[in-house]
Amino acid sequence: MTSPHAPVLLAEVIEALAPKAGDVVIDATFGAGGYTRAILERGADVVALDRDPTVQLFAEAVARDFPDRFQLIRTPFSGLAEAFEESGKAKLDGAVFDIGVSSMQLDQAERGFSFMRDGPLDMRMSDEGVTAADIVNTWDHGPLAHIFKLYGDERQSGRVATAILRRRVEQPFTRTLDLAEVVEKALGGRRGAAIHPATRVFQALRIAVNDELGELERGLEAAEATLAPGGRLVVVTFHSLEDRIVKAFLTERTGNAPGGSRHAPVAVEMRKPSFDLMFKGAREAGEAELAANPRARSAKLRAGVRTTAPAWGAVKGRSA
Ligand SMILES: C[S@@+](CC[C@H](N)C(=O)[O-])C[C@H]1O[C@@H](n2cnc3c(N)ncnc32)[C@H](O)[C@@H]1O
Repeated sequence: MTSPHAPVLLAEVIEALAPKAGDVVIDATFGAGGYTRAILERGADVVALDRDPTVQLFAEAVARDFPDRFQLIRTPFSGLAEAFEESGKAKLDGAVFDIGVSSMQLDQAERGFSFMRDGPLDMRMSDEGVTAADIVNTWDHGPLAHIFKLYGDERQSGRVATAILRRRVEQPFTRTLDLAEVVEKALGGRRGAAIHPATRVFQALRIAVNDELGELERGLEAAEATLAPGGRLVVVTFHSLEDRIVKAFLTERTGNAPGGSRHAPVAVEMRKPSFDLMFKGAREAGEAELAANPRARSAKLRAGVRTTAPAWGAVKGRSA
């Protein structure tokens, strides 16, 4: 089965994870299984996680090719520690996160992620929880404007929220194109904009619906708590809000945060680094990959190696 989702930074991910026979690796974002297959091909066992029930089809194809060394557990990756326990494996040698939506999710109009295709205003990666329609039809002006600004970097967030509130009194939103049109109108049309005017608002809603930043923080903390000493943490992100969280996490946990955390300065200073940085900064896609896969444009890979120090646990408040 060929993958409908071209895995981003695959060579760099495998180099950083360095999986070998006998290792156990968690692929926290299974998707179409591109990373999982490459890890299995190098001989390691894979425990894959995904909260999207529709990835089952790809999991069945992987299980046919690697019947004894692969399992998929349906969970948000904040449940990584519990999922690892459920897997029955003894020691975790690597964890990889490929954050964000898959091409399959974006391409299926009925999932409601796209402002280019008409579909129900849903945007849930799983089949549980609030939808984008729930948010735009019920949230007050302040919280709506807040997420458009914070998660979408929408400069006219207040204006968009006002237009949404005004319209929903007459008729609640149910469809993606309907919302995209209202946002476009509120922002004064396209006027030669490089991107569709609704791009930022749709991104913000997707992040809110799926609590993507909170999930990322909890997923990283769960990986820290679960990886064995020497285990590798590899994270690929696609926008600056996500990368900022991963960078801050690794900076703190490798003991490189200047002056400790503003939330708990004294306690943090006393902690021993729970990770060693694998390399400075972030790896990005090379020219060949960029030419073949435009989705790789904003991808950044960061990685750390777990030390023997205790896990730091939750350091709250980064994404709020
Ligand atoms: C970018 S795709 C991963 C593609 C994969 N690396 C591949 O090679 O096919 C991201 C996947 O992670 C899943 N996902 C995103 N956030 C998640 C979360 N918090 N918990 C579990 N799965 C998540 C999505 O449902 C999607 O299938």
